[in-house]
Amino acid sequence: MTTGSPIAIGPSILTADLLNLGAQIAAAEAAGVDYIHLDVMDGRFVPNISFGMPICAALRDATQLPIDAHLMIEEPERYVDAFIEAGADRITVHAEASLHLHRTLTQISERGALAGVSIVPSTPLSAIEEVLPFCGQVLIMLVNPGFGGQSLIPAMLDKVRRLRAMLDVRNPGCLLQVDGGVKASNIAKVVAAGADTIVVGSAIYNDEQTVAEAVTALRQALAG
Ligand code: DX5
Ligand code: ZN
Repeated sequence: MTTGSPIAIGPSILTADLLNLGAQIAAAEAAGVDYIHLDVMDGRFVPNISFGMPICAALRDATQLPIDAHLMIEEPERYVDAFIEAGADRITVHAEASLHLHRTLTQISERGALAGVSIVPSTPLSAIEEVLPFCGQVLIMLVNPGFGGQSLIPAMLDKVRRLRAMLDVRNPGCLLQVDGGVKASNIAKVVAAGADTIVVGSAIYNDEQTVAEAVTALRQALAG
């Protein structure tokens, strides 16, 4: 039984079998994941294009788990309401993509969703320092966003450590999420650095393991 674990694991559906998305979500839910991570890409903020509101709405019909929408799009404030209407419980925007970040985070909170902010590997923590009190979640990208299946950039672990220390002072209840390249072989290191909310894409949805095997391997790596 994994529900109630202090470390939350959420699969990114980017590498899921999209023709069988309902079954892929059900398998993750049965394996005890804590939320579903939806990677939204616009082909401008990141080179890739992925999912929009209709997929979010389809997920909403398929699961009771929280839907965590990671908006890798320019001017995300234009789409906050649409994703909340499509059923997203958490909305994370990039500091690099939203000039009036405080306003955007407030907009998300006022519409009743958990407000998240993210930064790419090259953006310093100072870019989000002023908005930490207005966040329910901070997402540290461990890879340059845009694609699943990349390798974690080891230098990002120190960034996670420094953010943990900042949050402990400024917003201790805020979730510290990480995304990119997390797998059974490194999840314990990421958690030891201070992350509590983990996104896992290709290490959950892949051709080598079932979803249940993959989630079990991640939980065992954390327990060990
Ligand atoms: C990267 C996305 C991630 C990614 C995770 O741009 O934000 O959510 O799909 O996939 P893995 O775990 O394969 O790096
Ligand atoms: Zn993501």
